[in-house]
Amino acid sequence: MAHQNFIIAIDGFSSCGKSTVAKALAKNLNFVFVDSGAMYRAVTVYFLRHEIDLTNNEQVETALANIHIDFVPNTEKTQILLNGEDVSDEIRQMYISDNVSEVSAIKAVRTAMVAQQQQLGKVKNIVMDGRDIGTTVFPDADLKIFMTASPEVRATRRYAELTANGDRVSIEDVKANLAHRDHIDSTREESPLRQAEDAIVLDNSELCQEEQLAFVLAKVHEKQNNLI
Ligand code: DC
Repeated sequence: MAHQNFIIAIDGFSSCGKSTVAKALAKNLNFVFVDSGAMYRAVTVYFLRHEIDLTNNEQVETALANIHIDFVPNTEKTQILLNGEDVSDEIRQMYISDNVSEVSAIKAVRTAMVAQQQQLGKVKNIVMDGRDIGTTVFPDADLKIFMTASPEVRATRRYAELTANGDRVSIEDVKANLAHRDHIDSTREESPLRQAEDAIVLDNSELCQEEQLAFVLAKVHEKQNNLI
């Protein structure tokens, strides 16, 4: 093994239920859950507030040097802090979803976030979800899962999440946003979303949360047994 800690990478398109599985897994195994998408969303909050010109490298670099992101584990849910401010709710809003793919496609943004993510994996056993965790952030991860679900199932899930949070959106807007992000996430130059060769595919269109957790736990146990 290239590293001491057990690292589980969960990648896939937006709204495939990655975070739900990752959270349940981390809880069950007593690992730390890291939502890498939340980090790109927090950067997007900062960039929008400070009206950063995404085409201006100097502005982007200066902004990144001023951004500090922390995760605070809580009994209810993990909080994400942007320079000490809790932005957990703001990062889920539609205007952030509408801008996050453009921000996360910037090379300097990725370099900064990937470095922070790798740092987190050095000290703890973790479950990290995202787009490039098994390919770029932790190519040596102990277990890699690539999640998929049908576009209809994904849009319905994200719509339910947004409306539950009080966001007034239409299902068509949600579908359009997902399609737009899929396109940018998988065609960008800097570590695009793709399935790692050694990733195990989990299509959860027809699976409940318990079934998904059981599937991944079985894979974790297989890997742990092989490693001992
Ligand atoms: O998982 P999410 O929808 O919260 O992610 C938000 C955006 O961040 C998504 O459009 C793509 C980007 N992202 C990324 O580029 N790399 C990651 N490891 C995680 C997310």
